Amino acid sequence: MEKDTVKIGLLGVGTIGGGVVALLKRNGIRINETINVNLVLGRVVDRDLSRLKTLGLSEDILATEASQVLDDPEIDIIIELIGGVEPARSYITRALENGKYVVTANKDLMATHGAELLALAREKNLNIFYEASVGGGIPLIRPLKHSLVADRVQRVIGIVNGTTNYIFTRMARDNLSFQEALSEAQKSGFAEADPTNDIAGLDAAYKLVILAGLVFGKKASLDQVYVQGIGGVTSEDIAYAREIGYVIKLLAIGEQMPEGLALRVHPTLVPQDHPLAAVWNEFNAICVEGEAVGQIMFYGRGAGAMPTATAVLADVAEAARCIKNQAAYGVIEKIAPETTYVPIGELSTRFYLRFLAEDRPGVFAVLANAFGDEQVSLDMVIQKRCVNNTAEIVLVTHMVREDAFQRAMDRVLSLPVIKPNPSIIRLLS
Ligand code: HSE
Repeated sequence: MEKDTVKIGLLGVGTIGGGVVALLKRNGIRINETINVNLVLGRVVDRDLSRLKTLGLSEDILATEASQVLDDPEIDIIIELIGGVEPARSYITRALENGKYVVTANKDLMATHGAELLALAREKNLNIFYEASVGGGIPLIRPLKHSLVADRVQRVIGIVNGTTNYIFTRMARDNLSFQEALSEAQKSGFAEADPTNDIAGLDAAYKLVILAGLVFGKKASLDQVYVQGIGGVTSEDIAYAREIGYVIKLLAIGEQMPEGLALRVHPTLVPQDHPLAAVWNEFNAICVEGEAVGQIMFYGRGAGAMPTATAVLADVAEAARCIKNQAAYGVIEKIAPETTYVPIGELSTRFYLRFLAEDRPGVFAVLANAFGDEQVSLDMVIQKRCVNNTAEIVLVTHMVREDAFQRAMDRVLSLPVIKPNPSIIRLLS
Protein backbone atom coordinates (compact mmCIF):
# COMPACT_ATOMS: atom_id res chain seq x y z
CA MET A 1 0.00 0.00 0.00
CA GLU A 2 1.29 3.46 -0.86
CA LYS A 3 2.36 5.60 2.07
CA ASP A 4 1.09 9.17 1.71
CA THR A 5 2.56 10.76 4.83
CA VAL A 6 6.28 10.53 5.48
CA LYS A 7 7.76 11.62 8.82
CA ILE A 8 11.14 13.25 9.06
CA GLY A 9 13.45 13.38 12.08
CA LEU A 10 16.11 16.08 12.04
CA LEU A 11 19.36 15.63 13.98
CA GLY A 12 21.28 18.87 14.50
CA VAL A 13 20.08 22.42 14.01
CA GLY A 14 23.28 24.35 13.38
CA THR A 15 23.61 26.51 10.27
CA ILE A 16 22.32 23.95 7.75
CA GLY A 17 19.70 22.48 10.10
CA GLY A 18 18.27 25.95 10.70
CA GLY A 19 18.17 26.46 6.91
CA VAL A 20 16.34 23.15 6.43
CA VAL A 21 13.64 24.11 8.96
CA ALA A 22 13.25 27.57 7.37
CA LEU A 23 13.08 26.23 3.81
CA LEU A 24 10.62 23.51 4.76
CA LYS A 25 8.37 26.17 6.32
CA ARG A 26 8.69 28.34 3.22
CA ASN A 27 8.32 25.70 0.50
CA GLY A 28 6.95 22.60 2.25
CA ILE A 29 3.52 22.78 0.60
CA ARG A 30 5.08 23.17 -2.83
CA ILE A 31 7.40 20.21 -2.24
CA ASN A 32 4.46 18.08 -1.08
CA GLU A 33 2.43 18.99 -4.16
CA THR A 34 5.36 18.23 -6.45
CA ILE A 35 6.15 14.79 -5.06
CA ASN A 36 2.59 14.00 -4.02
CA VAL A 37 3.65 13.06 -0.50
CA ASN A 38 2.78 14.79 2.77
CA LEU A 39 6.14 15.49 4.44
CA VAL A 40 5.87 16.04 8.17
CA LEU A 41 8.66 17.22 10.45
CA GLY A 42 8.11 14.66 13.20
CA ARG A 43 10.94 15.50 15.59
CA VAL A 44 13.90 17.86 15.77
CA VAL A 45 16.85 17.03 17.99
CA ASP A 46 19.72 19.15 19.23
CA ARG A 47 21.71 19.03 22.45
CA ASP A 48 21.08 22.77 22.82
CA LEU A 49 17.44 23.27 23.82
CA SER A 50 17.67 27.07 23.61
CA ARG A 51 18.81 26.78 19.98
CA LEU A 52 15.84 24.50 19.26
CA LYS A 53 13.47 27.02 20.76
CA THR A 54 14.59 29.77 18.36
CA LEU A 55 13.23 27.78 15.39
CA GLY A 56 9.60 28.68 16.06
CA LEU A 57 8.48 25.02 15.96
CA SER A 58 5.87 23.37 18.15
CA GLU A 59 7.48 22.45 21.50
CA ASP A 60 6.20 18.86 21.39
CA ILE A 61 8.46 17.95 18.47
CA LEU A 62 11.64 19.31 20.09
CA ALA A 63 14.01 16.85 21.78
CA THR A 64 17.56 16.73 23.09
CA GLU A 65 18.30 12.98 22.76
CA ALA A 66 19.18 11.39 19.40
CA SER A 67 17.39 8.19 20.46
CA GLN A 68 14.09 10.11 20.35
CA VAL A 69 14.49 10.15 16.57
CA LEU A 70 16.56 7.05 15.90
CA ASP A 71 14.32 4.66 17.83
CA ASP A 72 10.96 6.21 17.01
CA PRO A 73 9.16 3.77 14.69
CA GLU A 74 7.03 6.61 13.30
CA ILE A 75 10.05 8.38 11.79
CA ASP A 76 10.72 7.27 8.19
CA ILE A 77 13.68 9.47 7.24
CA ILE A 78 16.43 10.92 9.40
CA ILE A 79 18.39 13.99 8.34
CA GLU A 80 21.84 13.88 9.96
CA LEU A 81 23.35 17.37 10.21
CA ILE A 82 25.59 17.04 13.22
CA GLY A 83 28.76 16.52 11.15
CA GLY A 84 32.00 14.71 12.01
CA VAL A 85 32.54 10.97 12.09
CA GLU A 86 31.26 10.04 15.56
CA PRO A 87 28.57 9.89 16.79
CA ALA A 88 27.14 10.50 13.28
CA ARG A 89 28.34 7.09 12.07
CA SER A 90 26.71 5.25 14.97
CA TYR A 91 23.51 7.26 14.61
CA ILE A 92 23.22 6.52 10.89
CA THR A 93 23.97 2.83 11.47
CA ARG A 94 21.23 2.71 14.11
CA ALA A 95 18.76 4.54 11.87
CA LEU A 96 19.38 2.04 9.04
CA GLU A 97 19.09 -0.90 11.46
CA ASN A 98 15.73 0.58 12.47
CA GLY A 99 14.55 0.72 8.84
CA LYS A 100 14.92 4.46 8.18
CA TYR A 101 16.22 6.23 5.09
CA VAL A 102 19.09 8.62 5.75
CA VAL A 103 19.87 12.06 4.35
CA THR A 104 23.21 13.59 5.31
CA ALA A 105 25.47 16.52 4.47
CA ASN A 106 28.41 14.86 6.20
CA LYS A 107 31.41 14.80 3.82
CA ASP A 108 33.91 13.59 6.44
CA LEU A 109 31.72 10.60 7.21
CA MET A 110 30.81 9.76 3.61
CA ALA A 111 34.45 10.05 2.52
CA THR A 112 35.73 7.79 5.29
CA HIS A 113 32.85 5.34 5.95
CA GLY A 114 30.49 5.91 3.00
CA ALA A 115 31.13 2.51 1.40
CA GLU A 116 30.35 0.54 4.57
CA LEU A 117 27.25 2.63 5.37
CA LEU A 118 25.94 2.37 1.81
CA ALA A 119 26.49 -1.40 1.92
CA LEU A 120 24.43 -1.58 5.11
CA ALA A 121 21.71 0.54 3.49
CA ARG A 122 21.69 -1.79 0.49
CA GLU A 123 21.42 -4.84 2.77
CA LYS A 124 18.40 -3.24 4.44
CA ASN A 125 16.88 -2.25 1.09
CA LEU A 126 17.18 1.39 2.07
CA ASN A 127 19.46 4.20 0.95
CA ILE A 128 21.60 7.11 2.11
CA PHE A 129 21.36 10.37 0.17
CA TYR A 130 24.27 12.80 0.42
CA GLU A 131 23.77 15.51 -2.19
CA ALA A 132 24.72 18.24 0.31
CA SER A 133 28.08 16.66 1.17
CA VAL A 134 29.85 18.12 -1.88
CA GLY A 135 29.17 21.48 -3.50
CA GLY A 136 26.46 22.59 -1.01
CA GLY A 137 23.51 23.73 -3.12
CA ILE A 138 24.92 22.63 -6.49
CA PRO A 139 22.93 19.68 -7.87
CA LEU A 140 25.90 17.46 -8.47
CA ILE A 141 25.80 14.02 -6.89
CA ARG A 142 22.55 12.96 -8.53
CA PRO A 143 23.60 14.03 -12.06
CA LEU A 144 26.97 12.35 -11.58
CA LYS A 145 25.26 9.13 -10.44
CA HIS A 146 22.49 9.10 -13.01
CA SER A 147 23.11 11.33 -15.98
CA LEU A 148 26.62 10.16 -16.78
CA VAL A 149 25.88 6.46 -16.45
CA ALA A 150 26.38 6.02 -20.20
CA ASP A 151 29.77 7.72 -20.32
CA ARG A 152 33.29 7.13 -19.09
CA VAL A 153 34.67 10.03 -17.09
CA GLN A 154 38.35 10.72 -17.68
CA ARG A 155 38.90 13.64 -15.34
CA VAL A 156 37.10 15.65 -12.68
CA ILE A 157 38.52 19.03 -11.63
CA GLY A 158 36.83 20.96 -8.86
CA ILE A 159 36.98 24.15 -6.89
CA VAL A 160 35.20 22.51 -3.98
CA ASN A 161 36.23 24.71 -1.08
CA GLY A 162 34.60 28.11 -0.76
CA THR A 163 36.85 29.38 2.04
CA THR A 164 40.07 29.03 0.05
CA ASN A 165 38.48 30.35 -3.13
CA TYR A 166 37.30 33.42 -1.22
CA ILE A 167 40.82 33.91 0.20
CA PHE A 168 42.46 33.69 -3.25
CA THR A 169 39.83 36.07 -4.63
CA ARG A 170 40.57 38.73 -2.03
CA MET A 171 44.32 38.25 -2.48
CA ALA A 172 44.01 38.65 -6.26
CA ARG A 173 41.46 41.45 -6.41
CA ASP A 174 42.31 43.53 -3.34
CA ASN A 175 46.02 42.74 -3.00
CA LEU A 176 45.49 41.34 0.51
CA SER A 177 48.03 39.07 2.13
CA PHE A 178 47.01 35.51 2.95
CA GLN A 179 46.47 36.39 6.64
CA GLU A 180 44.44 39.53 5.81
CA ALA A 181 42.27 37.60 3.33
CA LEU A 182 41.70 34.80 5.86
CA SER A 183 40.59 37.21 8.55
CA GLU A 184 38.26 38.95 6.03
CA ALA A 185 36.82 35.53 5.16
CA GLN A 186 36.15 34.87 8.83
CA LYS A 187 34.57 38.30 9.37
CA SER A 188 32.26 37.86 6.37
CA GLY A 189 31.22 34.36 7.43
CA PHE A 190 32.93 32.62 4.49
CA ALA A 191 35.39 30.75 6.70
CA GLU A 192 34.69 28.53 9.66
CA ALA A 193 35.85 29.68 13.10
CA ASP A 194 38.47 26.93 12.77
CA PRO A 195 39.41 26.86 9.07
CA THR A 196 42.33 24.41 9.51
CA ASN A 197 40.87 21.67 7.28
CA ASP A 198 39.95 24.17 4.57
CA ILE A 199 43.37 25.83 4.46
CA ALA A 200 45.20 22.49 4.62
CA GLY A 201 43.19 21.15 1.65
CA LEU A 202 41.60 18.36 3.71
CA ASP A 203 38.03 19.54 3.23
CA ALA A 204 38.62 19.46 -0.55
CA ALA A 205 40.27 16.03 -0.26
CA TYR A 206 37.19 14.56 1.49
CA LYS A 207 35.02 15.94 -1.28
CA LEU A 208 37.36 14.55 -3.96
CA VAL A 209 37.10 11.09 -2.41
CA ILE A 210 33.29 11.28 -2.70
CA LEU A 211 33.40 12.66 -6.26
CA ALA A 212 35.97 10.11 -7.42
CA GLY A 213 33.88 7.24 -6.04
CA LEU A 214 30.93 8.53 -8.06
CA VAL A 215 32.51 9.46 -11.38
CA PHE A 216 35.06 6.66 -11.66
CA GLY A 217 32.99 4.02 -9.85
CA LYS A 218 36.03 3.03 -7.77
CA LYS A 219 36.55 2.86 -4.03
CA ALA A 220 38.63 5.89 -3.11
CA SER A 221 40.09 6.76 0.27
CA LEU A 222 41.73 9.77 1.84
CA ASP A 223 45.18 8.18 2.10
CA GLN A 224 45.27 7.83 -1.69
CA VAL A 225 44.91 11.58 -2.18
CA TYR A 226 47.99 13.81 -2.43
CA VAL A 227 47.08 16.93 -0.42
CA GLN A 228 48.78 20.31 -0.32
CA GLY A 229 47.09 23.30 1.29
CA ILE A 230 47.17 26.96 0.31
CA GLY A 231 49.33 28.29 3.16
CA GLY A 232 52.46 28.70 0.99
CA VAL A 233 50.87 30.84 -1.75
CA THR A 234 51.81 34.53 -1.53
CA SER A 235 50.53 37.76 -3.09
CA GLU A 236 53.71 37.75 -5.24
CA ASP A 237 52.74 34.37 -6.72
CA ILE A 238 49.26 35.64 -7.51
CA ALA A 239 50.73 38.72 -9.23
CA TYR A 240 53.24 36.68 -11.27
CA ALA A 241 50.49 34.21 -12.21
CA ARG A 242 48.41 37.09 -13.54
CA GLU A 243 51.38 38.44 -15.48
CA ILE A 244 51.81 35.14 -17.32
CA GLY A 245 48.09 34.58 -17.96
CA TYR A 246 46.95 32.45 -15.03
CA VAL A 247 44.89 32.62 -11.82
CA ILE A 248 45.64 30.51 -8.74
CA LYS A 249 42.92 28.17 -7.43
CA LEU A 250 42.88 25.28 -4.97
CA LEU A 251 41.90 22.40 -7.25
CA ALA A 252 40.79 18.89 -6.44
CA ILE A 253 41.74 16.74 -9.42
CA GLY A 254 40.82 13.13 -10.10
CA GLU A 255 42.13 11.42 -13.23
CA GLN A 256 41.57 7.99 -14.66
CA MET A 257 44.94 7.01 -16.10
CA PRO A 258 45.89 3.73 -17.82
CA GLU A 259 47.89 2.76 -14.68
CA GLY A 260 45.09 3.62 -12.22
CA LEU A 261 43.45 6.57 -10.50
CA ALA A 262 45.38 9.72 -9.62
CA LEU A 263 43.83 11.92 -6.92
CA ARG A 264 45.29 15.22 -5.77
CA VAL A 265 44.45 18.51 -4.11
CA HIS A 266 46.84 21.43 -4.47
CA PRO A 267 47.02 25.11 -5.37
CA THR A 268 47.15 25.29 -9.16
CA LEU A 269 47.80 27.88 -11.86
CA VAL A 270 44.68 27.80 -14.03
CA PRO A 271 44.83 29.41 -17.50
CA GLN A 272 42.73 32.60 -17.53
CA ASP A 273 40.58 31.25 -20.37
CA HIS A 274 39.65 28.01 -18.54
CA PRO A 275 36.04 28.05 -17.21
CA LEU A 276 37.32 27.39 -13.66
CA ALA A 277 39.34 30.64 -13.77
CA ALA A 278 36.04 32.57 -13.76
CA VAL A 279 34.93 31.05 -10.43
CA TRP A 280 35.45 33.68 -7.73
CA ASN A 281 34.59 34.45 -4.11
CA GLU A 282 32.97 31.64 -2.11
CA PHE A 283 31.61 29.90 -5.23
CA ASN A 284 32.39 26.31 -6.14
CA ALA A 285 32.53 24.66 -9.56
CA ILE A 286 33.15 21.13 -10.72
CA CYS A 287 34.30 20.44 -14.24
CA VAL A 288 33.84 16.90 -15.53
CA GLU A 289 35.48 15.59 -18.69
CA GLY A 290 33.75 12.57 -20.20
CA GLU A 291 34.77 10.59 -23.26
CA ALA A 292 31.41 11.03 -24.95
CA VAL A 293 29.93 14.13 -23.33
CA GLY A 294 33.11 16.23 -23.45
CA GLN A 295 33.51 18.98 -20.84
CA ILE A 296 30.62 19.92 -18.52
CA MET A 297 30.65 22.21 -15.53
CA PHE A 298 28.51 22.58 -12.39
CA TYR A 299 28.65 25.97 -10.69
CA GLY A 300 27.08 27.53 -7.61
CA ARG A 301 27.27 28.08 -3.88
CA GLY A 302 29.17 25.33 -2.13
CA ALA A 303 28.10 26.26 1.38
CA GLY A 304 25.62 28.40 3.33
CA ALA A 305 22.38 27.58 5.11
CA MET A 306 19.79 28.08 2.38
CA PRO A 307 21.74 26.75 -0.64
CA THR A 308 22.71 23.60 1.29
CA ALA A 309 19.14 23.21 2.59
CA THR A 310 17.89 22.92 -1.02
CA ALA A 311 20.17 19.90 -1.50
CA VAL A 312 19.08 18.32 1.80
CA LEU A 313 15.38 18.73 1.03
CA ALA A 314 15.81 17.42 -2.53
CA ASP A 315 17.27 14.28 -0.94
CA VAL A 316 14.37 14.11 1.51
CA ALA A 317 11.97 14.36 -1.45
CA GLU A 318 13.83 11.54 -3.21
CA ALA A 319 13.72 9.33 -0.11
CA ALA A 320 10.02 10.12 0.37
CA ARG A 321 9.30 9.08 -3.22
CA CYS A 322 11.14 5.80 -2.64
CA ILE A 323 9.02 5.21 0.48
CA LYS A 324 5.75 6.15 -1.20
CA ASN A 325 6.37 4.03 -4.27
CA GLN A 326 7.94 1.22 -2.27
CA ALA A 327 10.84 1.52 -4.69
CA ALA A 328 13.16 0.83 -1.82
CA TYR A 329 16.21 0.90 -3.98
CA GLY A 330 15.23 3.51 -6.53
CA VAL A 331 18.58 5.17 -6.95
CA ILE A 332 21.71 4.07 -8.77
CA GLU A 333 24.39 3.35 -6.18
CA LYS A 334 27.17 1.32 -7.70
CA ILE A 335 29.20 -1.03 -5.52
CA ALA A 336 32.64 0.43 -6.06
CA PRO A 337 35.52 -2.05 -6.46
CA GLU A 338 39.07 -1.42 -5.25
CA THR A 339 41.50 -0.01 -7.81
CA THR A 340 45.16 0.90 -8.17
CA TYR A 341 46.35 4.43 -7.47
CA VAL A 342 49.08 6.36 -9.17
CA PRO A 343 51.37 8.10 -6.64
CA ILE A 344 52.07 11.80 -7.21
CA GLY A 345 55.75 11.11 -8.07
CA GLU A 346 54.72 9.22 -11.21
CA LEU A 347 52.50 12.00 -12.58
CA SER A 348 53.69 14.57 -15.08
CA THR A 349 52.83 18.21 -14.82
CA ARG A 350 54.17 21.71 -15.48
CA PHE A 351 55.56 23.68 -12.54
CA TYR A 352 55.73 27.35 -11.63
CA LEU A 353 58.70 28.07 -9.38
CA ARG A 354 59.60 31.35 -7.64
CA PHE A 355 62.67 31.74 -5.46
CA LEU A 356 65.26 34.21 -4.33
CA ALA A 357 68.93 33.87 -5.21
CA GLU A 358 72.11 35.81 -4.55
CA ASP A 359 72.89 38.21 -7.37
CA ARG A 360 76.22 36.83 -8.55
CA PRO A 361 77.73 35.13 -11.58
CA GLY A 362 77.00 31.49 -12.24
CA VAL A 363 73.55 31.26 -10.59
CA PHE A 364 71.79 30.53 -13.88
CA ALA A 365 74.54 28.13 -14.88
CA VAL A 366 74.00 25.94 -11.80
CA LEU A 367 70.23 26.09 -12.25
CA ALA A 368 70.60 25.06 -15.87
CA ASN A 369 72.77 22.09 -14.85
CA ALA A 370 70.41 20.89 -12.10
CA PHE A 371 67.36 21.10 -14.36
CA GLY A 372 69.17 19.87 -17.47
CA ASP A 373 70.54 16.75 -15.73
CA GLU A 374 67.01 15.76 -14.70
CA GLN A 375 65.59 16.47 -18.17
CA VAL A 376 63.50 19.36 -16.81
CA SER A 377 62.87 21.69 -19.72
CA LEU A 378 62.07 25.35 -19.04
CA ASP A 379 59.27 27.12 -20.86
CA MET A 380 59.54 30.55 -19.25
CA VAL A 381 62.15 32.46 -17.23
CA ILE A 382 61.55 35.81 -15.51
CA GLN A 383 64.08 37.79 -13.54
CA LYS A 384 63.39 41.40 -12.64
CA ARG A 385 65.83 44.01 -11.33
CA CYS A 386 67.75 42.83 -8.24
CA VAL A 387 67.08 44.41 -4.83
CA ASN A 388 69.75 44.35 -2.09
CA ASN A 389 71.88 41.89 -4.05
CA THR A 390 68.99 39.46 -4.19
CA ALA A 391 67.38 38.30 -7.42
CA GLU A 392 63.81 37.04 -7.63
CA ILE A 393 63.62 34.34 -10.28
CA VAL A 394 60.42 32.82 -11.68
CA LEU A 395 60.55 29.72 -13.87
CA VAL A 396 57.83 27.73 -15.58
CA THR A 397 58.70 24.24 -16.77
CA HIS A 398 57.38 22.17 -19.63
CA MET A 399 55.72 18.86 -18.69
CA VAL A 400 57.97 16.90 -16.37
CA ARG A 401 57.62 13.90 -14.10
CA GLU A 402 57.11 14.97 -10.49
CA ASP A 403 59.94 12.81 -9.16
CA ALA A 404 62.45 14.21 -11.68
CA PHE A 405 61.40 17.77 -10.81
CA GLN A 406 61.76 17.06 -7.09
CA ARG A 407 65.27 15.62 -7.63
CA ALA A 408 66.23 18.76 -9.56
CA MET A 409 64.77 20.94 -6.79
CA ASP A 410 66.74 19.05 -4.11
CA ARG A 411 69.89 19.92 -6.02
CA VAL A 412 68.85 23.54 -6.56
CA LEU A 413 67.99 24.06 -2.91
CA SER A 414 71.27 22.55 -1.73
CA LEU A 415 73.13 25.41 -3.42
CA PRO A 416 74.15 28.12 -0.94
CA VAL A 417 73.31 30.89 -3.46
CA ILE A 418 69.63 29.84 -3.51
CA LYS A 419 67.46 30.98 -0.58
CA PRO A 420 65.20 28.37 1.06
CA ASN A 421 61.37 28.19 0.88
CA PRO A 422 60.66 28.64 -2.81
CA SER A 423 57.07 28.80 -4.09
CA ILE A 424 56.30 25.71 -6.15
CA ILE A 425 52.86 25.58 -7.77
CA ARG A 426 51.62 23.14 -10.40
CA LEU A 427 49.91 24.25 -13.59
CA LEU A 428 46.63 22.84 -14.89
CA SER A 429 47.18 21.26 -18.26
N1 HSE B 1 34.13 24.74 4.72
C1 HSE B 1 33.57 24.41 3.44
C2 HSE B 1 34.02 25.43 2.41
C3 HSE B 1 32.08 24.36 3.42
O1 HSE B 1 34.65 26.42 2.73
O2 HSE B 1 33.72 25.22 1.24
C4 HSE B 1 31.52 23.07 3.87
O3 HSE B 1 31.94 22.00 3.07
